[in-house]
Amino acid sequence: MIYFDHNATTPIDDRVLDAMLPFLKTFYGNPSSLYRHGRVAASAVNAAREQLAALLGVQPGQIVFTSGGTEANNLALATLAPRAGLAVSAIEHPSVIEPALHLKIQEHELTLLDVDTNGLITQDAIDRVIQLKPGLVSIMLANNETGVIQNIAHYADRLKAHDIKIHTDAVQALGKIPVVFSELGVDLMSLSSHKIYGPKGCGALVFDKSVEIKPVLLGGGQEQGFRAGTENVAAIVGFGMATELAKTELAERRAHLLNLRKQLEHGLSAIPGLTIFSGQAERLPNTVQMGVDGIDGEMLLMQLDQKNIAVSSGSACASGQREPSPVLAAMGISPRKAKSAIRISLGKANTETEISEFIKQLKSLIEKG
Ligand SMILES: Cc1ncc(COP(=O)(O)O)c(C=O)c1O
Repeated sequence: MIYFDHNATTPIDDRVLDAMLPFLKTFYGNPSSLYRHGRVAASAVNAAREQLAALLGVQPGQIVFTSGGTEANNLALATLAPRAGLAVSAIEHPSVIEPALHLKIQEHELTLLDVDTNGLITQDAIDRVIQLKPGLVSIMLANNETGVIQNIAHYADRLKAHDIKIHTDAVQALGKIPVVFSELGVDLMSLSSHKIYGPKGCGALVFDKSVEIKPVLLGGGQEQGFRAGTENVAAIVGFGMATELAKTELAERRAHLLNLRKQLEHGLSAIPGLTIFSGQAERLPNTVQMGVDGIDGEMLLMQLDQKNIAVSSGSACASGQREPSPVLAAMGISPRKAKSAIRISLGKANTETEISEFIKQLKSLIEKG
């Protein structure tokens, strides 16, 4: 199979799996247990926390391990003070939009930040939000559909000058571009392991000490009391290893992905009626979202599947629902055009031969209409 859906999930890296296996097979103790088996597990969790902290430029105590990006985003939004307003960008992942709508029902004022036709937050939106002075602003670092990268460090500077807290969902950015908490200047940041060749069901919320974390899951007091539940030790160890590899191999992975993306976009440019969404903006090196006039994206996805090629139509989490992508709608793309969208998201093991094969199959399917 040609797998071009790495923004949905990635295959686990063998080195990550090797690091995890002892904690599934041998050291399976509960990290809260006082005997040796438990202590070994607890020290593995602490080692992973230290590993992640060093890579992200924070102290270990600034990391809460979660069940993934979704939980990290929910936990971030839960820090909102009673009655304070909330602002989120119109292109956020559902795991930010949905808790934001839930907070709105609980009478927090909710503002959506507009984006331009390339999917970049507008200056006007930032100016407006500064006037409104919400308790928290959430803007993703990189978008899962278009790959557009926002200038978070600049927004963080501006918002913090007005005493407004900022959260960024860096789930798609980690492993593809540099992600250093201290350099971004944000107050809260969400991460997920399975987008970076780590196991599914693991992520983290990174927070500045000035933020009061309010636990969403209550129970046994694990994770400094911020997130109850027996730690997913093997997954946390795997996440630590995956983050380490993402950082040490970043330059190499990025160069490889950019090279493939260039080849892909060159091939796509020869197809009449084809648009690359957010084509003029700075994007992740692995992501291309495209549409072809008069073609149904979901249909094309199924036809490519028959050729053993896996791509996505818009956001993986939203597939199955036939509504056009809210991200593209926020960018002012017509519903008809948005329904033609497919997303190609490349990974470190993809090759030039796979890109050539994809272009060949895509051209032939589009010609057949
Ligand atoms: C931008 C973004 N945020 C959050 C998530 C959710 O992460 P997880 O699958 O770990 O819950 C995703 C997953 O697709 C994502 O793309």
